[in-house]
Amino acid sequence: MSSPSSSQTNSIRKTLLPYLTKAAHLPAPFISAFLLVHLSAPILANVGGASLSSSVMLLGREYYQGSPQELLLLFGPLGLHVSASVLKRLLSPYPPRPIRSLLSTAGYTALAIIPIHILIQRVYPTDPAYPISSIGPAQLDFSFVQHALQKWPIRSILLYVSLTAATILHALEGFALLNDLYLVKDGSAKRWDKSKVRTRRIAAATGISAVLGGVLMLWKEPIIMPLPSILARFDAVLQKSIIYRL
Ligand code: HEM
Repeated sequence: MSSPSSSQTNSIRKTLLPYLTKAAHLPAPFISAFLLVHLSAPILANVGGASLSSSVMLLGREYYQGSPQELLLLFGPLGLHVSASVLKRLLSPYPPRPIRSLLSTAGYTALAIIPIHILIQRVYPTDPAYPISSIGPAQLDFSFVQHALQKWPIRSILLYVSLTAATILHALEGFALLNDLYLVKDGSAKRWDKSKVRTRRIAAATGISAVLGGVLMLWKEPIIMPLPSILARFDAVLQKSIIYRL
């Protein structure tokens, strides 16, 4: 028999659950919009190489970078989504979703890689100390990605492609769940229908191949004007991460 305090805890958990669910679901459209803008840059390398990718990334930064939009459109929604989802798993009085489900495995894989990606692309370049000396956003274009790919191809390809694969797979599973929950009229779960699963797998394979194709193009294309001084600063940024020191 459960003690009064354990049944009280259970009822607090039951009360919290719908709020955590809404807090996990509400930010999803914001994160998705960011992902579409952000991933379109490497995908466009397939048709226009590094210069088109850099132009698209610079345009995209207008939408999501700077204060306060980066907090409101990216880090805030992502932080809320992840913390509410993890809290929900920890506090739910019901058995949580199997950790080996595609949604969970891909979600936690993306979560493990994202900090490495943010540190390398966003935090380390701002180090004011020599030799990095604060690389500005204009200098931090796709030549930085090309340099990482050309000097450390295996780890860079693995890093970029595993992050995007995990994110795309997770977002598609998440979308299907949200669609069933909020848009399917009769309330039944349609996402496990064979044809829906197949459509998601095709969409994931297409998205991942498009990013992989873009990454391979960037790897093969020579860097335009590879100034040794800037490449040395790129090296210093990359080698701040244990991934590039190993
Ligand atoms: C790259 C950014 C993202 C990361 C790192 C991330 C991470 C996570 C994590 C770790 C979970 C918990 C999974 C579990 O415990 O089973 C989760 C749940 C979820 N995610 Fe994401 N996610 C991201 C983007 C998205 C996007 C773009 C969508 C939708 C389009 C989405 C939809 C969902 C949904 C529906 C859940 C389940 C929430 C619930 O339990 O009700 N996520 N996410």
